Amino acid sequence: MVDVTTDPFESMLHENRHFPPSPEFVAQANASLELYAQAQGDRMAFWDEQAGRLHWDKRWTTTLDWSGAPFAKWFVDGRINVAVNCVDRHVADGFGDQVAIHFEGEPGDTRAITYQQLQDEVCQAANALAALGVVAGDRVAIYLPMIPEAVIAMLACARLGAPHSVVFGGFSAEALRSRIDDAAAKVVITADGGYRRGSAFPLKPAVDEAVAAAPTVEHVLVVRRTGGDVVWTDKDVWWHEAVGGASTTHDPEFFDSEHPLFILYTSGTTGKPKGILHTTGGYLTQAAYTHHMVFDHKPGADVYWCTADVGWITGHSYIVYGPLANRATQVMYEGTPDTPHKGRWWEIVEKYRVTILYTAPTAIRTFAKWGREFPGQFDLTSLRLLGSVGEPINPAAWMWYRSVIGGDNCPIVDTWWQTETGAIMISPLPGVTHTKPGSAMDPLPGISAKVVDDDGNQIERSEAGYLILDEPWPAMLRGIWGDDERYVEQYWSRWPQVYFAGDGAKYDREGHIWLLGRVDDVMNVSGHRISTAEVESALVSHAAVAEAAVVGANDDTTGQAIVAFVILRENADISPDTVENIRSHVGTEIGSIAKPKRVMVVKELPKTRSGKIMRRLLRDVAENRDLGDTSTLADPAVMALISSGLATATDTD
Ligand code: PRX
Repeated sequence: MVDVTTDPFESMLHENRHFPPSPEFVAQANASLELYAQAQGDRMAFWDEQAGRLHWDKRWTTTLDWSGAPFAKWFVDGRINVAVNCVDRHVADGFGDQVAIHFEGEPGDTRAITYQQLQDEVCQAANALAALGVVAGDRVAIYLPMIPEAVIAMLACARLGAPHSVVFGGFSAEALRSRIDDAAAKVVITADGGYRRGSAFPLKPAVDEAVAAAPTVEHVLVVRRTGGDVVWTDKDVWWHEAVGGASTTHDPEFFDSEHPLFILYTSGTTGKPKGILHTTGGYLTQAAYTHHMVFDHKPGADVYWCTADVGWITGHSYIVYGPLANRATQVMYEGTPDTPHKGRWWEIVEKYRVTILYTAPTAIRTFAKWGREFPGQFDLTSLRLLGSVGEPINPAAWMWYRSVIGGDNCPIVDTWWQTETGAIMISPLPGVTHTKPGSAMDPLPGISAKVVDDDGNQIERSEAGYLILDEPWPAMLRGIWGDDERYVEQYWSRWPQVYFAGDGAKYDREGHIWLLGRVDDVMNVSGHRISTAEVESALVSHAAVAEAAVVGANDDTTGQAIVAFVILRENADISPDTVENIRSHVGTEIGSIAKPKRVMVVKELPKTRSGKIMRRLLRDVAENRDLGDTSTLADPAVMALISSGLATATDTD
């Protein structure tokens, strides 16, 4: 069972505040209580109805084919084009003048892109990619800052049936190279750079380095964003020339419902990131359904803002595919929340009259720390619904969000899901659910999630267990790119026919679900998944490091923080410089998000007699707790050696 004694969220279970929706919200809500009964009554008919939100060139014959479990097929034989659904059909319906994206650059430049303009640019980009030789099935890597071209590039790939692999712009050249390589990408779409924390940062050098070692890449399409100098290679093509010069008409092809839409790499329990594969019809169905119901979205009336980066699944499903399928008008912001001042987000909310805001607990905790005077300077009364995603939200942060940002007037939807699930799975339904601060509440209509014990049996209320999904869902991953075996082993082997999410969870006394964090060796830092093995393998690739162990320690702001314990090679210097150098090395290998907050140089690591590192004990040290049971340690004296800490470096970024 999950160890409740180290469960930082234990106190949440005593949370008994309820927040019912206001009668005004209920009266206009998209969702209703009947949805649950409807989905329970006939799950397949329910999903058929949700798929009806989309435009299909050819209707499917069978809702779900699960005969090849755990490889699902949804909306079998249906034919559909994602870009047509997200753009063309809205223009055809007469909404070409509606703004799709209000772009706000960090330096203050803005662009309002209508659905008509979006259609023109997506068609141009599709034509440009086709001219570079991209055909259906080819993989395209996208490594861009948060600028509209990221959305346009993704939709252009979708239009051509060329699966994209978006790599977060904060990842290193090496991380980009390994992802390009794994997917054998033919084209990379990037930019000269972007703006962050008040200055321009370069992106192109990392691409040059990655592409030099990635022979599959034939062309690199480069957006000019900052105007900074770039080294030009014979594979490079300017976006404004290739796309700008292309035709704005493009005849879309319709693809099989199971045609691959994208690959998105995420961390697992080994050092090698997994390419999570999503396909077309089922993914778009659930992204659109959840965006409509969970955010209570009203096309043409709401101004929606999801603050995620397109490099993560939240950006895929809730900036690009869900909102655009539902004809949203949305805000897209390039930069950081404190540039040029700590009220920047709230200034944006006021400026665009944002009605729906979707963000992460880390951001909320950071704002709470900065103080209410920053949001207090702006008019936030346009907000009518708030969302949270990526990590458990503690009741205090939930209450702050509700009162300071939401003016005690907005339902909060705490949405649980994963890169693998593709779309929201557990969440309150606004206008229906009586929310509780800190709980994601219940599986959505159409979704079956349970909390089980070691034997896979559903557990009693108030006990901790494992979160599982025991029915296939439309947006589920269809596998790990190029590694079917790992897919089966990783997600479906613990209990037969059951998807294990890797999260601990509990039911409260009323049967609602509370997420307790990962139970495997995956850390969650600011809502980003990072595996301990990945950081350990980066650490030991440093010349001075002989052995390394990494744990996620609780952190007030980022949820978890990475703490590394390293044993140096005999001839290595134990100096603050070496230790700082080791930290930076992880940044070079993976990206800044994976840099340990603290590196502790130790003489030994605590191991069991069979040689397994006892992370629980290291977590105790990292969190400055009294050591727990050390009786299974091969050499109990090592803990004294570790606690004495030879040298440490702490992140001051
Ligand atoms: O541990 C859960 C946590 O984030 C993990 C999924 O990470 P990723 O694939 O990067 O997707 C993040 C955005 C969907 C989960 O296994 N997580 C996500 N949402 C929540 C959460 N934990 C608690 N509450 C949530 N609402």
